[in-house]
Amino acid sequence: MALVNLRDILADARANKYAVGSFNVVDLASLEAILEAAEFMQSPVILSIAEVHFKYVNLENITPAIKEVARRCSCPVALHLDHGESFEAIMRALRAGFTSIMFDGSKLAFDENIRQTAAIVKMCHAVGVTVEAELGHIGGAEGGSGGAVPPPEEFYTKVDEAVRFVKETKVDALAVAIGTAHGLYKGKPQLDFERLKALNAALNIPLVLHGGTGLSNDDFARCIENGVAKINFYTGMSVAATERIKDKLKSSPESYDYPGLLLEAKAGICRTVSEQIDIFRSKGMCAPDSSLCSFCSGCVIPRKIHAPVGAPAPAAAASDGEALVKKIADAVIDVLRQMKK
Ligand code: 13P
Repeated sequence: MALVNLRDILADARANKYAVGSFNVVDLASLEAILEAAEFMQSPVILSIAEVHFKYVNLENITPAIKEVARRCSCPVALHLDHGESFEAIMRALRAGFTSIMFDGSKLAFDENIRQTAAIVKMCHAVGVTVEAELGHIGGAEGGSGGAVPPPEEFYTKVDEAVRFVKETKVDALAVAIGTAHGLYKGKPQLDFERLKALNAALNIPLVLHGGTGLSNDDFARCIENGVAKINFYTGMSVAATERIKDKLKSSPESYDYPGLLLEAKAGICRTVSEQIDIFRSKGMCAPDSSLCSFCSGCVIPRKIHAPVGAPAPAAAASDGEALVKKIADAVIDVLRQMKK
């Protein structure tokens, strides 16, 4: 399957009321774990690399590996820059072949956020790359596992500003601040669903929820009902990987099995990502005959179902073996006929 951008998968998610998980890749183990989970769950997936993780993962080194693994994956895969704040990060991701960019101008003043986001959208759209932007503030520090403290309500996304922002920037998806935060929540997060509902009614684009770790299944369901089509999830993966490593070290403290620890981490991530895919309702969305087949050729089924309407089903092609058997049978019948004459 070739890589896809956000426009196609998020339009499908929005129309069919599910969300595509955006999971952060920090190394080869997490890359393989996420894709194996997506494939097993028959779900589209977004592989994200956050600019704050550039210190752990070399963008130019890992991107060819991502492209190769994605090419062999039967599900649609988007390759996305998460929280790109610098011009350099965005240019590096574009040059490496990312299909989608998040430009995070949320720390800028409103008008400056519009100005810079619009310029980046123009540049990215010119080369077929989609753009997610952020308006308002999502709390916590992305990429870490520190405390997630939602910002004060005055920093939540305002509906009138969001309408102007989307109109003037032409972004493909918008990350909204409704009380979520990156990292591990201290206490139970209280999301502002009325605000989300109003944003969804006013904007005709997929909404993005950051700070997925620690939200309840009910929170996710209500967000998806109200226009969230992309959910970012990372800290929970990191926790699962670390817990597995800790358990392993506790049970065999004399062992120095580094690759064995990586396998533990991979298994923890794979399990967590699979669970989230189920909760985000994207499990099975990539089954043969699904609406995603209109732009994904990850399996052989779509080629059949996208024959023009009314066209007869193509005759099943005989395998080489069957053709040989038929040839021999025809020849034997010919000989028998000759003998009869
Ligand atoms: P969590 O780490 O809280 O799941 O948030 C991930 C995120 O929003 C990445 O952009």
